[in-house]
Amino acid sequence: MNLSSTYLLFLSLLLVAPNALNSFTFVTKSFSSEHERSLSRTYSTSTRTDIAITENTSILTSTPEYRASKAKQTWSRVALQPTVNKKKDILLDDKSTIVYNQNLFDDFTSIKGTYYMNGLSSCQIGDRLCHPFEAHGYCKSLVFDGEGRMSYTSRIVETPLTKKERQQNKLLNRGVMSSVANMDSVWGNIQNSFSSKDRDTANLTADLWPPPGTNADKIDPVLITCTDNGEPYALDPKTLETKGLLSDVIPKLALVFPAGTTCLAHTRVDEERNRFIMCINSMVVPGENFKGNTIMEFVEFDTNFDVVSRREYSTRFMVFHDWALTQNYYVVPKNPAYLRWPNIVKFATGQGLGTDVFAMEEETNGEFILIPRHDTNENVHEVQSDSFFNCFHFGPSFENKDENELTINACIFDKYTFGGEMGFCGKTQNFDPIAWGSSDMAPPPGLDQFVIDMNSFQIKRRVRVPVIPVDMPNFNGDAKPCKYTYFLGASRQEGWFPFCQIVRLDMETFESYVYDAGDDQVVSEPMFIPRPSPSSEDDGFIISIVLNAKDKNSKLVVWDSQTFDSGPIAEVPFDDLMPWCVHGSFYPEYNP
Ligand SMILES: [Fe+2]
Repeated sequence: MNLSSTYLLFLSLLLVAPNALNSFTFVTKSFSSEHERSLSRTYSTSTRTDIAITENTSILTSTPEYRASKAKQTWSRVALQPTVNKKKDILLDDKSTIVYNQNLFDDFTSIKGTYYMNGLSSCQIGDRLCHPFEAHGYCKSLVFDGEGRMSYTSRIVETPLTKKERQQNKLLNRGVMSSVANMDSVWGNIQNSFSSKDRDTANLTADLWPPPGTNADKIDPVLITCTDNGEPYALDPKTLETKGLLSDVIPKLALVFPAGTTCLAHTRVDEERNRFIMCINSMVVPGENFKGNTIMEFVEFDTNFDVVSRREYSTRFMVFHDWALTQNYYVVPKNPAYLRWPNIVKFATGQGLGTDVFAMEEETNGEFILIPRHDTNENVHEVQSDSFFNCFHFGPSFENKDENELTINACIFDKYTFGGEMGFCGKTQNFDPIAWGSSDMAPPPGLDQFVIDMNSFQIKRRVRVPVIPVDMPNFNGDAKPCKYTYFLGASRQEGWFPFCQIVRLDMETFESYVYDAGDDQVVSEPMFIPRPSPSSEDDGFIISIVLNAKDKNSKLVVWDSQTFDSGPIAEVPFDDLMPWCVHGSFYPEYNP
């Protein structure tokens, strides 16, 4: 086996695959799913060390071992839930719907639009488990007709590998975080070493482009799904049927995405300019001084899917999963990492996982790379922070021209060790989320607010926001100031995953409210839906799919964003347990 080509193959896959989901341990103001106020504590201070303590009464009556066991059971059941294609029409005001505020819920049911969510299929493929981030994609849509009806569709994203593995009912490609055979035997090592590292499962994001009715070339909207370091796939927005690679469905994109071109899953939208922006990424190995390099290229599309601009940048070896968009910059977290060459041999010979091949370089400070979007003569700025960080997801990021500042809100790990993401051990095939989230490998992340001086391009302020551990932020649009952000949260006394809370945070006062879904529950990314004629930035609704592992069902939980602190306004039940949803998007007035 040619090792150097092997390295190139899997390292190109490795670059950003390990998406991490994270959190910490404390609560501000909390409401259980039964609407009982379990504690109330509000924080408005802003020092980096000011971290509050959880006082959730439910955890005072059980032992840490019991809680770890429950979390393991809860997450295993969600991750291994069998996945099938479904279609069902649901009356929002059916008698099974629990309505807490009829007037506000009537407002919600009058909203027309479509919510797309991508996420994970079952992690069990045949008799073997794969890592959750390498499970097949499972895309869902909720189509709200504005007259009280919701149409639910779910469908497996059928990439070539997914089709093959489903036909054979067998895990065929090991990917980076999984293995096709146990590693404790020579035969297992041989099977792993000859297995492909390619798992193009398109399982993380779902974005619609062009916006319905906006394009001059009459290109129908395409639902774009992608995983990290993968090729983007196109789905039918109505049926969710996989139509093929995006570059096959929109042929002119073959010039932008030649065969084998890989992208980050996360995309961004500039609503003001009506642009859709994707990030092509690649890894150069061995790179400068055998330390590797990272190359990123941002491509902006107009509503005809024509390229408006593209800009490439190369830097040292780093990992990233998400990026932010401001009015004039692409913001990239330069999370420093290094190659572990000895482990490359172990991986190539089937004795190790791909996640062992690199590690965070914790003695190096994290940076933000600001890449100019419009002025090709402007240099790229690398803005150094005061400590190491590993950032996977961004909150609102925007420029304030009056103050000449650029603000970045980012979910930050102060330290991080790859391997064991989402509590899954690729070697033992076991889920143990609390053991992982309570270890030094994955300490819960904090939310940091960075303010960059746009004269000097240095950080003039960095504040650790006093909120519970949060990740997966959702807010009202890119490249503009947003006062409110919604997160997944996890205020557990030990560990932090799986997520069981939804958090509303005021980014100016740092006041936050926490909705606790309770034991046995896993929450999905919150989605903000604006009212048709909003009176303010935060005039709208929040929805999240809450999974009940114990009862094996799910529900759509709905809040009015401005009364979030009063609890949900309604809960709409699904009759089965949905697999975990990762990232989604909402399109007002659109019914495919
Ligand atoms: Fe993500």
